[in-house]
Amino acid sequence: MDIKKTITIGARTANPLTVKRLGYGTMRLPGEEVWGEPENRDEALKILKATSEKGIQFLDTADYYGKDVTNRLISEALYPYNKDLVICTKVGANRGADKSWGIYDKPENLRASIDNNLKTLKIEQIPLVHFRVMPGTYTLLEESLNAMFEMQKEGKILNVGLSNVNPEELNIAIAMGNVASVENAFGYEQRTSFSAFGQEVRGMQEVMDICVKNSIPMIPFFSLQTSLPKGANKIAIIAEKYNATPAQINLAWLLHYNELILPIPGTSKLAHFNENIKALDISLSEEDMEFLG
Ligand SMILES: NC(=O)c1ccc[n+]([C@@H]2O[C@H](COP(=O)([O-])OP(=O)(O)OC[C@H]3O[C@@H](n4cnc5c(N)ncnc54)[C@H](OP(=O)(O)O)[C@@H]3O)[C@@H](O)[C@H]2O)c1
Repeated sequence: MDIKKTITIGARTANPLTVKRLGYGTMRLPGEEVWGEPENRDEALKILKATSEKGIQFLDTADYYGKDVTNRLISEALYPYNKDLVICTKVGANRGADKSWGIYDKPENLRASIDNNLKTLKIEQIPLVHFRVMPGTYTLLEESLNAMFEMQKEGKILNVGLSNVNPEELNIAIAMGNVASVENAFGYEQRTSFSAFGQEVRGMQEVMDICVKNSIPMIPFFSLQTSLPKGANKIAIIAEKYNATPAQINLAWLLHYNELILPIPGTSKLAHFNENIKALDISLSEEDMEFLG
């Protein structure tokens, strides 16, 4: 099957961003529990430099990775940035000094996060920002999103998307403004619900369906983390057929599952990064996809 090798984020906005259909998620770069400097700083910088050398045009980050560690590594490795690089950050959460994860979604919190991302990434406008819905928040989704769209009007943000949304939240957001993209947990072994950090995200397939109905790109996370340990037999069979690795077939499955999917596999290893980006060259047949289910 021919797959699309590029994807356009914010296709219906005044500022569409077209990128190669495989990005890189930076969350694996900081130390344990996504905190502090990388275990191997040199390798982390090599991976980021390799993203540019290998033509990767989409990086996912957050100022709460580290805290500030991935943003600083990105700027250290890649600044001044290639014109076609889309850096996507997330707001709505923050970290305590004890590494805890907190809710940070009041309008003034979001503004502080955006300013901090602009500073640590050394840019004047962020191409794409996902508002990450956190569990247990008292702030109304509408209030947070209004603040996001406000900052878009001011020019601090080019495109606004959402992360960790359920179907109801996504529909509210779509009714409020132009949703450029959605970043939710999704993968071969993870298509219904997902639970992490005390949050249950349900209706993942429904979210995917709403994205398809509205032509909104879906940027999946934890696609390998949740699927690789299960060692699916069908994945292994297809991997053998293509002389590929299970990670590559998991990613190839995402790329063939729907053309609106933009995978952002995360890794702390340069060898895994080089392996993962080759998934874009794998062409699965219709029978393969039917077999994988
Ligand atoms: N919006 C959100 O709430 C949210 C939440 C989580 C993540 N994210 C974003 O999504 C990105 C992707 O998620 P993720 O980092 O969890 O990535 P992932 O793609 O699900 O998998 C990462 C895990 O798979 C391993 N791995 C990667 N490539 C491999 C390969 N070729 N062979 C064997 N193991 C491999 C990594 O270990 P090694 O390091 O050893 O390779 C790591 O344990 C993150 O980096 C982050 O940017 C967003």
